[in-house]
Amino acid sequence: MTDLKPARILAIESSCDETACAIVENGRALLSSVVASQMEIHARYGGVYPEVASRQHVLSVIPVVEQALAQAHLTLEDIDAIAVTQGPGLAGSLVVGMNMAKGLALGSGLPLVGVNHLEGHLYSAWAHDADETIPAEPQFPLMALLVSGGHTELNLMTNHLTYQRLGATLDDAAGEAFDKVARLLDLGYPGGPAIQKTAEEGDASRFRFPRAWLEGTHNFSFSGVKTSVLYETRELKKRSSNLPIHDLAASFQHAVVEVLFKKTMDAAREFGAKEILVAGGVSANRALRQIFRAQTEFPVHIPQLSLCTDNAAMIASAGYFRYALGHTAQLDMDVLPTWALPA
Ligand code: KG4
Ligand code: ZN
Repeated sequence: MTDLKPARILAIESSCDETACAIVENGRALLSSVVASQMEIHARYGGVYPEVASRQHVLSVIPVVEQALAQAHLTLEDIDAIAVTQGPGLAGSLVVGMNMAKGLALGSGLPLVGVNHLEGHLYSAWAHDADETIPAEPQFPLMALLVSGGHTELNLMTNHLTYQRLGATLDDAAGEAFDKVARLLDLGYPGGPAIQKTAEEGDASRFRFPRAWLEGTHNFSFSGVKTSVLYETRELKKRSSNLPIHDLAASFQHAVVEVLFKKTMDAAREFGAKEILVAGGVSANRALRQIFRAQTEFPVHIPQLSLCTDNAAMIASAGYFRYALGHTAQLDMDVLPTWALPA
Protein backbone atom coordinates (compact mmCIF):
# COMPACT_ATOMS: atom_id res chain seq x y z
CA MET A 1 0.00 0.00 0.00
CA THR A 2 1.11 3.51 -0.69
CA ASP A 3 1.36 6.03 2.19
CA LEU A 4 0.56 8.97 -0.09
CA LYS A 5 -2.55 11.07 0.54
CA PRO A 6 -5.79 9.45 -0.61
CA ALA A 7 -7.47 10.93 -3.69
CA ARG A 8 -9.95 10.19 -6.43
CA ILE A 9 -8.78 11.22 -9.88
CA LEU A 10 -10.98 11.68 -12.95
CA ALA A 11 -8.88 11.38 -16.11
CA ILE A 12 -9.44 12.03 -19.79
CA GLU A 13 -7.49 10.40 -22.63
CA SER A 14 -7.86 11.45 -26.29
CA SER A 15 -4.37 11.17 -27.77
CA CYS A 16 -5.24 8.91 -30.70
CA ASP A 17 -8.44 7.13 -31.68
CA GLU A 18 -10.05 6.35 -28.32
CA THR A 19 -12.04 8.91 -26.32
CA ALA A 20 -11.81 7.73 -22.73
CA CYS A 21 -12.65 8.81 -19.20
CA ALA A 22 -12.00 6.94 -15.96
CA ILE A 23 -12.11 7.45 -12.21
CA VAL A 24 -9.43 5.80 -10.07
CA GLU A 25 -9.00 5.87 -6.31
CA ASN A 26 -5.54 6.17 -4.76
CA GLY A 27 -3.83 5.36 -8.04
CA ARG A 28 -5.05 1.79 -8.11
CA ALA A 29 -8.76 0.99 -7.63
CA LEU A 30 -10.77 1.50 -10.79
CA LEU A 31 -14.20 2.98 -9.98
CA SER A 32 -15.16 3.35 -13.64
CA SER A 33 -13.52 3.26 -17.04
CA VAL A 34 -15.28 4.20 -20.27
CA VAL A 35 -13.67 3.93 -23.70
CA ALA A 36 -15.41 5.12 -26.88
CA SER A 37 -13.45 3.42 -29.64
CA GLN A 38 -13.26 4.78 -33.17
CA MET A 39 -11.70 1.58 -34.47
CA GLU A 40 -14.52 0.74 -36.89
CA ILE A 41 -14.44 4.21 -38.41
CA HIS A 42 -10.67 4.12 -39.03
CA ALA A 43 -10.61 0.48 -40.19
CA ARG A 44 -12.06 1.76 -43.46
CA TYR A 45 -8.87 3.76 -44.06
CA GLY A 46 -6.48 1.02 -42.85
CA GLY A 47 -5.18 3.29 -40.07
CA VAL A 48 -6.02 6.34 -37.99
CA TYR A 49 -7.30 9.33 -40.03
CA PRO A 50 -6.32 12.31 -37.81
CA GLU A 51 -8.98 14.80 -38.93
CA VAL A 52 -11.75 12.23 -38.51
CA ALA A 53 -10.32 11.30 -35.09
CA SER A 54 -10.52 14.83 -33.70
CA ARG A 55 -14.08 15.29 -34.93
CA GLN A 56 -15.10 12.03 -33.25
CA HIS A 57 -13.44 13.11 -29.99
CA VAL A 58 -15.56 16.27 -30.04
CA LEU A 59 -18.70 14.15 -30.34
CA SER A 60 -17.72 11.62 -27.66
CA VAL A 61 -15.92 13.54 -24.94
CA ILE A 62 -18.90 14.90 -22.96
CA PRO A 63 -20.91 11.62 -23.03
CA VAL A 64 -17.81 9.66 -22.00
CA VAL A 65 -17.19 11.89 -18.95
CA GLU A 66 -20.88 11.71 -17.99
CA GLN A 67 -20.82 7.92 -18.26
CA ALA A 68 -17.68 7.57 -16.16
CA LEU A 69 -19.23 9.64 -13.34
CA ALA A 70 -22.56 7.79 -13.60
CA GLN A 71 -20.92 4.34 -13.55
CA ALA A 72 -18.96 5.26 -10.42
CA HIS A 73 -22.12 6.78 -8.84
CA LEU A 74 -20.17 9.98 -8.23
CA THR A 75 -20.37 13.67 -9.05
CA LEU A 76 -17.49 16.10 -9.58
CA GLU A 77 -17.80 17.00 -5.88
CA ASP A 78 -16.40 13.55 -5.02
CA ILE A 79 -13.31 14.07 -7.20
CA ASP A 80 -9.99 15.53 -5.99
CA ALA A 81 -8.23 16.33 -9.28
CA ILE A 82 -8.68 16.20 -13.08
CA ALA A 83 -5.91 14.47 -15.04
CA VAL A 84 -5.49 14.63 -18.79
CA THR A 85 -3.14 13.25 -21.42
CA GLN A 86 -0.86 16.08 -22.49
CA GLY A 87 1.09 14.13 -25.17
CA PRO A 88 2.53 12.53 -27.16
CA GLY A 89 -0.24 12.03 -29.70
CA LEU A 90 -2.21 13.67 -32.48
CA ALA A 91 -2.38 17.42 -31.84
CA GLY A 92 -5.98 17.82 -32.93
CA SER A 93 -7.07 14.88 -30.78
CA LEU A 94 -5.11 15.90 -27.67
CA VAL A 95 -6.64 19.38 -27.76
CA VAL A 96 -10.18 18.02 -27.37
CA GLY A 97 -9.39 16.12 -24.15
CA MET A 98 -7.27 18.99 -22.86
CA ASN A 99 -10.03 21.57 -23.35
CA MET A 100 -12.58 19.31 -21.68
CA ALA A 101 -10.25 18.79 -18.71
CA LYS A 102 -9.57 22.51 -18.41
CA GLY A 103 -13.29 23.26 -18.54
CA LEU A 104 -13.97 20.75 -15.77
CA ALA A 105 -11.11 22.07 -13.64
CA LEU A 106 -12.13 25.68 -14.13
CA GLY A 107 -15.81 25.02 -13.44
CA SER A 108 -15.22 22.90 -10.35
CA GLY A 109 -12.10 24.58 -8.97
CA LEU A 110 -10.29 21.24 -8.97
CA PRO A 111 -6.55 21.01 -9.66
CA LEU A 112 -5.42 19.94 -13.11
CA VAL A 113 -2.71 17.34 -13.75
CA GLY A 114 -0.97 16.76 -17.10
CA VAL A 115 0.09 13.19 -17.82
CA ASN A 116 2.48 11.83 -20.41
CA HIS A 117 0.69 9.10 -22.39
CA LEU A 118 3.68 6.72 -22.13
CA GLU A 119 3.89 7.25 -18.39
CA GLY A 120 0.19 6.44 -18.33
CA HIS A 121 0.83 3.12 -20.08
CA LEU A 122 3.40 2.19 -17.43
CA TYR A 123 0.97 3.07 -14.63
CA SER A 124 -1.75 0.87 -16.14
CA ALA A 125 0.01 -1.92 -14.25
CA TRP A 126 -0.97 -0.24 -10.96
CA ALA A 127 -4.70 -0.14 -11.78
CA HIS A 128 -7.14 -2.95 -11.05
CA ASP A 129 -10.93 -3.40 -10.93
CA ALA A 130 -12.21 -2.16 -7.56
CA ASP A 131 -14.04 -5.42 -6.82
CA GLU A 132 -10.99 -7.60 -7.59
CA THR A 133 -8.36 -8.88 -5.17
CA ILE A 134 -5.68 -6.21 -5.14
CA PRO A 135 -2.69 -7.37 -7.21
CA ALA A 136 0.79 -6.81 -5.74
CA GLU A 137 2.05 -3.26 -6.22
CA PRO A 138 5.09 -2.99 -8.53
CA GLN A 139 8.32 -2.52 -6.56
CA PHE A 140 11.33 -0.41 -7.56
CA PRO A 141 13.81 -0.66 -9.16
CA LEU A 142 11.55 -1.82 -11.93
CA MET A 143 12.55 -2.70 -15.51
CA ALA A 144 9.70 -1.39 -17.65
CA LEU A 145 9.14 -2.51 -21.23
CA LEU A 146 6.75 -0.20 -23.05
CA VAL A 147 5.41 -1.67 -26.30
CA SER A 148 2.73 0.28 -28.10
CA GLY A 149 1.78 1.27 -31.64
CA GLY A 150 3.94 4.38 -31.51
CA HIS A 151 6.73 3.47 -29.07
CA THR A 152 8.98 0.65 -27.96
CA GLU A 153 11.33 1.41 -25.11
CA LEU A 154 13.02 0.09 -22.01
CA ASN A 155 12.92 2.30 -18.94
CA LEU A 156 14.43 1.71 -15.54
CA MET A 157 12.02 3.10 -12.94
CA THR A 158 13.88 3.74 -9.70
CA ASN A 159 10.92 5.43 -8.02
CA HIS A 160 7.51 6.91 -8.84
CA LEU A 161 7.74 9.25 -11.85
CA THR A 162 11.48 8.60 -12.16
CA TYR A 163 12.63 7.06 -15.43
CA GLN A 164 15.94 6.27 -16.99
CA ARG A 165 15.38 5.52 -20.64
CA LEU A 166 17.86 2.78 -21.53
CA GLY A 167 16.88 2.22 -25.12
CA ALA A 168 14.16 2.60 -27.72
CA THR A 169 13.34 1.43 -31.21
CA LEU A 170 15.55 2.79 -33.95
CA ASP A 171 12.80 2.42 -36.54
CA ASP A 172 9.34 0.81 -36.25
CA ALA A 173 7.61 0.37 -32.89
CA ALA A 174 6.65 -3.23 -32.09
CA GLY A 175 2.93 -2.49 -32.54
CA GLU A 176 3.63 -0.71 -35.80
CA ALA A 177 5.44 -3.82 -37.07
CA PHE A 178 2.41 -5.95 -36.12
CA ASP A 179 0.14 -3.51 -37.97
CA LYS A 180 2.34 -3.40 -41.11
CA VAL A 181 2.80 -7.18 -41.30
CA ALA A 182 -0.95 -7.65 -40.81
CA ARG A 183 -1.54 -5.32 -43.73
CA LEU A 184 0.81 -7.20 -46.02
CA LEU A 185 -0.85 -10.49 -45.07
CA ASP A 186 -4.27 -8.88 -45.70
CA LEU A 187 -5.37 -9.44 -42.13
CA GLY A 188 -6.91 -5.99 -41.64
CA TYR A 189 -6.66 -3.29 -38.96
CA PRO A 190 -5.68 -3.20 -36.13
CA GLY A 191 -2.96 -5.68 -36.90
CA GLY A 192 -1.86 -6.89 -33.47
CA PRO A 193 -5.00 -8.83 -32.51
CA ALA A 194 -5.33 -10.12 -36.12
CA ILE A 195 -1.76 -11.48 -36.16
CA GLN A 196 -2.26 -13.07 -32.73
CA LYS A 197 -5.45 -14.82 -33.86
CA THR A 198 -3.96 -16.01 -37.16
CA ALA A 199 -0.77 -17.17 -35.41
CA GLU A 200 -2.75 -19.43 -33.07
CA GLU A 201 -3.09 -22.10 -35.77
CA GLY A 202 0.40 -21.57 -37.15
CA ASP A 203 3.83 -23.19 -36.85
CA ALA A 204 6.19 -20.57 -35.37
CA SER A 205 9.26 -22.54 -36.42
CA ARG A 206 8.43 -22.74 -40.13
CA PHE A 207 10.07 -19.44 -41.12
CA ARG A 208 13.21 -18.17 -39.43
CA PHE A 209 12.81 -14.39 -39.54
CA PRO A 210 15.77 -12.23 -38.41
CA ARG A 211 16.10 -10.97 -34.84
CA ALA A 212 17.86 -7.60 -34.42
CA TRP A 213 19.68 -8.16 -31.13
CA LEU A 214 21.67 -4.89 -31.35
CA GLU A 215 24.16 -6.36 -28.89
CA GLY A 216 25.63 -4.02 -26.31
CA THR A 217 22.65 -1.64 -26.50
CA HIS A 218 19.13 -1.64 -25.13
CA ASN A 219 17.69 -0.47 -28.43
CA PHE A 220 15.30 -2.32 -30.71
CA SER A 221 14.73 -2.54 -34.45
CA PHE A 222 11.75 -4.15 -36.14
CA SER A 223 11.98 -2.93 -39.73
CA GLY A 224 14.23 -5.87 -40.71
CA VAL A 225 11.82 -8.55 -39.59
CA LYS A 226 8.97 -6.72 -41.33
CA THR A 227 10.90 -6.48 -44.61
CA SER A 228 11.88 -10.12 -44.33
CA VAL A 229 8.19 -11.11 -44.07
CA LEU A 230 7.53 -8.95 -47.14
CA TYR A 231 10.26 -10.71 -49.21
CA GLU A 232 9.22 -14.16 -48.03
CA THR A 233 5.60 -13.39 -48.92
CA ARG A 234 6.62 -12.21 -52.41
CA GLU A 235 8.59 -15.41 -53.01
CA LEU A 236 5.75 -17.58 -51.76
CA LYS A 237 3.26 -15.76 -53.98
CA LYS A 238 5.38 -16.61 -57.05
CA ARG A 239 4.91 -20.30 -56.26
CA SER A 240 1.31 -20.36 -55.07
CA SER A 241 -1.63 -18.01 -54.56
CA ASN A 242 -2.33 -19.78 -51.29
CA LEU A 243 -0.18 -18.06 -48.67
CA PRO A 244 0.61 -19.97 -45.45
CA ILE A 245 -0.61 -16.97 -43.44
CA HIS A 246 -0.88 -18.88 -40.15
CA ASP A 247 2.76 -19.99 -40.24
CA LEU A 248 3.92 -16.55 -41.45
CA ALA A 249 2.02 -14.79 -38.64
CA ALA A 250 3.24 -17.26 -35.99
CA SER A 251 6.87 -17.06 -37.13
CA PHE A 252 6.78 -13.25 -37.23
CA GLN A 253 5.13 -13.01 -33.81
CA HIS A 254 7.69 -15.42 -32.35
CA ALA A 255 10.61 -13.35 -33.69
CA VAL A 256 9.25 -10.12 -32.16
CA VAL A 257 8.30 -11.67 -28.82
CA GLU A 258 11.66 -13.39 -28.45
CA VAL A 259 13.58 -10.11 -28.91
CA LEU A 260 11.32 -8.15 -26.55
CA PHE A 261 11.61 -10.83 -23.87
CA LYS A 262 15.33 -11.47 -24.05
CA LYS A 263 16.35 -7.82 -24.21
CA THR A 264 14.14 -6.99 -21.22
CA MET A 265 15.59 -9.88 -19.21
CA ASP A 266 19.18 -8.84 -20.05
CA ALA A 267 18.49 -5.24 -18.98
CA ALA A 268 16.73 -6.34 -15.78
CA ARG A 269 19.75 -8.43 -14.76
CA GLU A 270 22.29 -5.79 -15.80
CA PHE A 271 20.62 -3.00 -13.81
CA GLY A 272 19.71 -5.11 -10.79
CA ALA A 273 15.94 -4.62 -11.20
CA LYS A 274 13.73 -6.26 -8.58
CA GLU A 275 10.73 -6.68 -10.83
CA ILE A 276 9.59 -6.36 -14.43
CA LEU A 277 6.71 -4.40 -15.92
CA VAL A 278 5.34 -4.84 -19.45
CA ALA A 279 2.76 -2.34 -20.75
CA GLY A 280 1.30 -0.73 -23.90
CA GLY A 281 -1.00 -2.15 -26.59
CA VAL A 282 1.33 -5.02 -27.52
CA SER A 283 1.33 -6.23 -23.88
CA ALA A 284 -2.14 -7.58 -24.74
CA ASN A 285 -0.40 -10.17 -26.91
CA ARG A 286 -0.95 -13.67 -25.54
CA ALA A 287 2.42 -15.07 -26.61
CA LEU A 288 4.23 -12.12 -25.01
CA ARG A 289 2.25 -12.43 -21.77
CA GLN A 290 2.93 -16.17 -21.67
CA ILE A 291 6.67 -15.96 -22.10
CA PHE A 292 6.97 -13.24 -19.43
CA ARG A 293 4.76 -15.19 -17.03
CA ALA A 294 6.44 -18.56 -17.56
CA GLN A 295 10.09 -18.00 -18.28
CA THR A 296 11.51 -15.58 -15.75
CA GLU A 297 12.63 -15.60 -12.15
CA PHE A 298 11.40 -11.98 -11.70
CA PRO A 299 7.94 -10.97 -10.47
CA VAL A 300 6.24 -9.60 -13.61
CA HIS A 301 3.48 -6.99 -13.77
CA ILE A 302 1.34 -6.85 -16.91
CA PRO A 303 -1.88 -4.79 -16.96
CA GLN A 304 -5.24 -6.52 -17.17
CA LEU A 305 -6.25 -6.95 -20.83
CA SER A 306 -8.73 -4.05 -20.90
CA LEU A 307 -5.97 -1.66 -19.76
CA CYS A 308 -3.26 -2.65 -22.28
CA THR A 309 -4.56 -0.58 -25.18
CA ASP A 310 -5.40 3.11 -24.79
CA ASN A 311 -7.70 3.95 -21.87
CA ALA A 312 -8.11 6.68 -19.27
CA ALA A 313 -7.63 4.51 -16.16
CA MET A 314 -3.91 4.49 -16.82
CA ILE A 315 -3.93 8.30 -17.05
CA ALA A 316 -5.84 8.47 -13.77
CA SER A 317 -3.33 6.13 -12.06
CA ALA A 318 -0.32 8.12 -13.25
CA GLY A 319 -2.28 11.32 -12.52
CA TYR A 320 -2.78 10.21 -8.94
CA PHE A 321 0.96 9.83 -8.33
CA ARG A 322 1.62 13.19 -10.03
CA TYR A 323 -1.07 14.85 -7.91
CA ALA A 324 -0.04 13.19 -4.63
CA LEU A 325 3.60 14.07 -5.23
CA GLY A 326 2.80 17.71 -5.94
CA HIS A 327 3.04 17.89 -9.74
CA THR A 328 -0.12 19.81 -10.60
CA ALA A 329 -0.45 21.99 -13.68
CA GLN A 330 -1.79 25.46 -14.47
CA LEU A 331 -4.85 26.18 -16.59
CA ASP A 332 -2.61 27.50 -19.36
CA MET A 333 -0.99 24.06 -19.78
CA ASP A 334 -0.73 23.17 -23.44
CA VAL A 335 -0.75 19.88 -25.33
CA LEU A 336 2.68 18.47 -26.24
CA PRO A 337 2.15 16.28 -29.34
CA THR A 338 5.77 15.09 -29.52
CA TRP A 339 6.48 14.92 -25.82
CA ALA A 340 8.39 11.76 -24.87
CA LEU A 341 9.39 10.35 -21.52
CA PRO A 342 12.26 12.33 -20.00
CA ALA A 343 15.57 10.81 -21.16
O1 KG4 B 1 -0.99 1.41 -26.68
P1 KG4 B 1 -1.83 1.42 -27.88
O2 KG4 B 1 -3.31 1.19 -27.74
O3 KG4 B 1 -1.68 2.77 -28.67
C1 KG4 B 1 -0.51 3.49 -28.73
O4 KG4 B 1 -0.21 4.23 -27.77
O5 KG4 B 1 0.20 3.32 -29.76
O6 KG4 B 1 -1.19 0.34 -28.85
C2 KG4 B 1 -1.77 0.00 -30.07
C3 KG4 B 1 -0.91 -1.06 -30.71
C4 KG4 B 1 -1.30 -1.37 -32.14
O7 KG4 B 1 -0.14 -1.35 -32.94
C5 KG4 B 1 -1.90 -2.75 -32.04
O8 KG4 B 1 -1.74 -3.52 -33.23
C6 KG4 B 1 -1.11 -3.35 -30.89
O9 KG4 B 1 -0.99 -2.28 -29.96
N1 KG4 B 1 -1.82 -4.48 -30.27
C7 KG4 B 1 -1.33 -5.75 -30.27
C8 KG4 B 1 -2.32 -6.56 -29.67
N2 KG4 B 1 -3.37 -5.75 -29.29
C9 KG4 B 1 -3.02 -4.48 -29.67
N3 KG4 B 1 -0.18 -6.25 -30.76
C10 KG4 B 1 0.02 -7.58 -30.63
N4 KG4 B 1 -0.89 -8.42 -30.08
C11 KG4 B 1 -2.07 -7.97 -29.58
N5 KG4 B 1 -2.95 -8.80 -29.04
ZN1 ZN C 1 -1.11 4.22 -26.13
